[in-house]
Amino acid sequence: MNVIVTDNPEQAFQCIADMIANEIRRSSTPVLGLATGRTMENIYRLLVQQHKAGALDFSDTTSFNLDEYVGLAPTDPNSYHHYMQDHLFAHVNMEASRAHVPNGIAPELEVECAHYEAAIHAAGGIDLQLLGIGETGHIGFNEPPSAFDSRTRVVHLDEVTRRQNSCMFDNDPDRVPSHALTMGVGTILDARRLVLVAVGKGKAAIVNEALNGPISETVSASAIRLHDNATIILDTAAASDWKRTTRWRC
Ligand code: F6R
Repeated sequence: MNVIVTDNPEQAFQCIADMIANEIRRSSTPVLGLATGRTMENIYRLLVQQHKAGALDFSDTTSFNLDEYVGLAPTDPNSYHHYMQDHLFAHVNMEASRAHVPNGIAPELEVECAHYEAAIHAAGGIDLQLLGIGETGHIGFNEPPSAFDSRTRVVHLDEVTRRQNSCMFDNDPDRVPSHALTMGVGTILDARRLVLVAVGKGKAAIVNEALNGPISETVSASAIRLHDNATIILDTAAASDWKRTTRWRC
């Protein structure tokens, strides 16, 4: 596992955006695993900039988002479908049929989850999976405890996560849906490369727990230490509780 510590958040975002852009250029059929949330907005902004400057072609790219709220239609401004349109898909030349986000209003959610797993498999698996980390230590919406062999499924969102994400819902945690569809930890670990990004002091304690604490199903992010091609990118604030001394620079 490589850990890269950057001097400021913008350098962390640039570092990840460059990794994703290189993956898109390297492969003739890149398959990306994408995430949402406040951190990722910055990375999509940089990728859109590169595309608009003529330096990045998404026409052969396929993507699979990690998660979606149950009960929110793709047109709902708080859905992750809508988020992805807003921040990435509407601004780049990716084919709509190749941009996958789980359907949170599917009539049979279990069937939707099975189809999602099958679609990832049919695409040849994920080359590079982008990850953030939540206050509960979740990756995707894998709240504690989540089995390391879990697959795409319906999960109950932790109260901590509903509070964390309430800024999109008039700061009212009760308005945040109680359930979501998420790729499982096992689905995530199947990706050929993992890149996790965290910035800000607010992430320092959980980052340290994920990197230095026990590898445990109570902190889903600790699972990435089991992967043989994982990179963690932190700014100095997110790395401030992290005790190790060996660091790589971007
Ligand atoms: C969302 C996702 C989550 C977020 C995490 C951090 O698709 O995968 O695991 O990455 O909750 O969110 P922010 O960046 O808003 O702190």
